[in-house]
Amino acid sequence: MKAYAAAGLTSFAMELMPRISRAQSMDVLSSQSNLAGYKAVLDAASEFGRALPMMMTAAGTVAPAKVFIMGVGVAGLQAIATAKRLGAVVTATDVRPATREQVESLGGKFLEVDPEMEKDAQTEGGYAKQMPPEYFDKQKKVVAEHITKQDIVITAALIPNRPAPVLVTEEMVASMNPGAVIVDLAVEAGGNCPLSKLNEVVTTKNGVKILGYGNVAGRLAEDASQLFAKNLLNFITPLVDPESKKLAIDWEDEIVAGTLVTRDGKVVHPALVGKPAASKTKKKSSGKTNAPKKKGG
Ligand code: NAI
Repeated sequence: MKAYAAAGLTSFAMELMPRISRAQSMDVLSSQSNLAGYKAVLDAASEFGRALPMMMTAAGTVAPAKVFIMGVGVAGLQAIATAKRLGAVVTATDVRPATREQVESLGGKFLEVDPEMEKDAQTEGGYAKQMPPEYFDKQKKVVAEHITKQDIVITAALIPNRPAPVLVTEEMVASMNPGAVIVDLAVEAGGNCPLSKLNEVVTTKNGVKILGYGNVAGRLAEDASQLFAKNLLNFITPLVDPESKKLAIDWEDEIVAGTLVTRDGKVVHPALVGKPAASKTKKKSSGKTNAPKKKGG
C-alpha cells in the first residue's frame, strides 16, 4: 500500500466494501462467498460415499444424509440452500441471532448455543464479534454432541481481521463416523478445524475426509470471474460522469470513502492507518446494513 501511495496512485480495495444495500451489487466478498458455499456442498457430496436425498426403492430405503453448516454468512446460507435442494437433512449454527430466521426460512434447523450471549454478537457492519471463552466452551459442548451424528459438516465461520475460530476440534473429528466429510471453507484464515490443510484432502485415522480447498469460488472460475467483473463495473460506473465520460469521484460518498486505500501520496483508509472508521461520510438514501437475499446470497 505504501508503494501505491508513493507512486501517486488512487487505489480502492474491493474487500473493504461497506455492507449497505446500495453496495450489494459491488460486494465481491458476497459474490464469491455465495459460489463457495454452493461448491462446498458439491465437493462434499462427491467425496461422500452415499446419496444425499432419501430414496425409497424396491431394493430398500436410502436414509437422507445429515448436513451441518457452521457459520451462516453468505457462504453458509448458500450451502444450506444447496444441501436442502439435494435432499439432505440440514442443521446450522451461528453466533449472530439474526441467522436463526434465515436458516429456518431455507428449511434448515437451527442449533442454538446460548441466546443470551448471542444477543451482542453482531457488529454494526453486520459481521460477527470475537466471542468470550465461556461461549466457546458452551458451543463446544453443544456441537460435540451434535457432530457425531453428522455425515457432512461445512464450516464457514470467519471474524474480520482475526484468525478463524476453531469450531471442529480434533476430538470432535475423532467422534465422527467413517466416511463423514468436512469442508473447511475458512482454511485460508487458519481454518475452523485444526486438521484441515490448505489445498489438501486429509483422511483421518477414523476415515473422516477433510477438504481444505483454497479459493473455492475459483473452482467455478467462469461464474466467479463474471460476477467479479460485474462487481467492478458496478463500482466504477458511478465514479464516471455519464456526460463527459471523465472520472468524477465523490470523495464523501460512503462507498468511495469506505474502499479508498491510497490518495494524494498517502495511505488514507482508517483501518490501515489505525484510526477508527470515519463516520462523517455522506450517506445516500439506502444506507442501511441489509441481510443478504435468502437464496443466492
Ligand atoms: P463472514 O464471512 O465474515 O462470516 C461468516 C459467518 O461466520 C458469519 O455469519 C458469522 O456470524 C459466523 N461466525 C463467526 N464466528 C463464529 C462462531 N464462533 N461460531 C459460529 N459462527 C460464527 O460473513 P459474511 O458472509 O461476509 O456476512 C456477514 C454479514 O454481512 C451478514 O450479516 C450479512 O447479512 C451481511 N451482508 C450484508 C451485505 C450488504 O448489505 N451489502 C452483503 C453481504 C453480507
